[in-house]
Amino acid sequence: MMYEAYSGKPWSERGECLVIGVHDSAKLGPTAQAIDRALRGRLAALLKRGDFAGRAGESMLLAELPGSVGKRVLLIGTGTESQYQRRAWKRALTTAAAALARTRIRTAVLALEQPRAPAGKPELDEYTVARSSAEAIGAALYRINDLKTARRPRLPALSRIRIGPFSAGQRAQARRGLEDGAAIGASASLLRNLANLPGNRCTPRHLAATAAQVAGAHRRVRTRALNEAQIRRLKMGCLLAVTRGSAEPPRFIILEYRGGRRGAAPIVLVGKGVTFDSGGISLKDPAAMDEMKFDMCGAATVIAAVDLAARLQLRINLVALVPACENMPGGRAIKPGDIVASADGQTVEILNTDAEGRLILCDALHYARRYHPAALIDIATLTGACVIALGAHHTGIMANDDALAQELVAAGQRADDRAWQLPLTEEYAEQLKSNFADLANVAGRDGGAITAGAFLGKFTKGLKWAHLDIAGTAWLSGASKGATGRPLGLLADFLIRRARGQD
Ligand code: BES
Ligand code: MN
Ligand code: ZN
Repeated sequence: MMYEAYSGKPWSERGECLVIGVHDSAKLGPTAQAIDRALRGRLAALLKRGDFAGRAGESMLLAELPGSVGKRVLLIGTGTESQYQRRAWKRALTTAAAALARTRIRTAVLALEQPRAPAGKPELDEYTVARSSAEAIGAALYRINDLKTARRPRLPALSRIRIGPFSAGQRAQARRGLEDGAAIGASASLLRNLANLPGNRCTPRHLAATAAQVAGAHRRVRTRALNEAQIRRLKMGCLLAVTRGSAEPPRFIILEYRGGRRGAAPIVLVGKGVTFDSGGISLKDPAAMDEMKFDMCGAATVIAAVDLAARLQLRINLVALVPACENMPGGRAIKPGDIVASADGQTVEILNTDAEGRLILCDALHYARRYHPAALIDIATLTGACVIALGAHHTGIMANDDALAQELVAAGQRADDRAWQLPLTEEYAEQLKSNFADLANVAGRDGGAITAGAFLGKFTKGLKWAHLDIAGTAWLSGASKGATGRPLGLLADFLIRRARGQD
């Protein structure tokens, strides 16, 4: 998809269709009014007849409208005018992209009103408007790489979108925003494609092969994938414990991007790569167990983050670490009560084999120490308790460094990919006591998201570390089952800011 910023009059841009927003009760904003004057009031006349109310999510394509771009106008409902803020605006962008994708239109000129700032908040700058536009449209045009054999519907013809109007002085900023947004969209598609694959295709080896593809596509990216023997040499006893019940070989994937100064401390990301989580001997309920193919969304996110940093040539050093394996029951599988040693030497009593994410992560977090990271961030579909606490709307953040946690919360806010900090105080770690080992891998139901974070905290002492629990946000269930692409938007904002400072 080509995104272009324009700053002239929407109706004199070239294209096949002009896209206009209409507020509830058929009200036109300033951009739409100007367009209507150019169309000699035809729009207002049409709306007066009451055929299009402007409710959010609605769209209507009008053909043979002389004076308009390509003689076509696509009306997009944008809801109540007073509530036309970022969310309503994004919804309008999504509606527009979906409606355009159903036609044979190749080039569209978007002239939606820009969102109002909520009371007391600054208006969005042109860079952010442009970046968010491209991000939202990219997400709306994503199609699941399904394995259906029936004849596929034709791909959308849409290949070029002109976005505006931007003020002439801000065109360069807007262009940069569109470029960044397009890159985020592309990396988010990589993430979603990986996550949507079934467990029999997306194995640890497939994750490693995808990392190798990313490295092959970018000069500054290198990758290695350690096999079971090499993992054993690193004494990653917890990762080895989880993979024991599976016939599928594990991998420990290392993906490095060098965009910063030589020797500058990297940001290290760790992504949970459980390619299927049956629960192991502590077997899960059958209901919705298929969704545990998404238990590698953290891994997909960190691989996509490296892909994105390379696309944007960010001036940072970035490392992604992915402990990847399956969690299966079997004659060789770990059992409740088994005690294993992690890579840093602490012994862990495995009371529940379904709490496997923290086990593979703790060995990866220990491995991260060798990089002396500027920041260490793990991303994991870690606990059902986090879904209970925050639902599907906020990612849970826990950290041993409040500044880092707040930086991530702010990034999520700007990117509309929100996160909420949970209190990781010392009491939670005390709940992990074991009579037989240094610590247990579970601590009962209460505060389950935080005790999982506290477990990880035992392996990140002295490092600037944050943990993102994306169990509720990484995928949708039900009719629209599939990966959401979160939290790549949050991470993208965080990395871009770290690389460029204020933007
Ligand atoms: N992958 C799951 C967490 C999960 C559950 C993600 C539901 C999304 C939806 C994780 O490995 C797990 O099974 N966690 C257990 C931990 C418990 C045994 C302490 C859980 O949340 O039930
Ligand atoms: Mn589990
Ligand atoms: Zn899991």
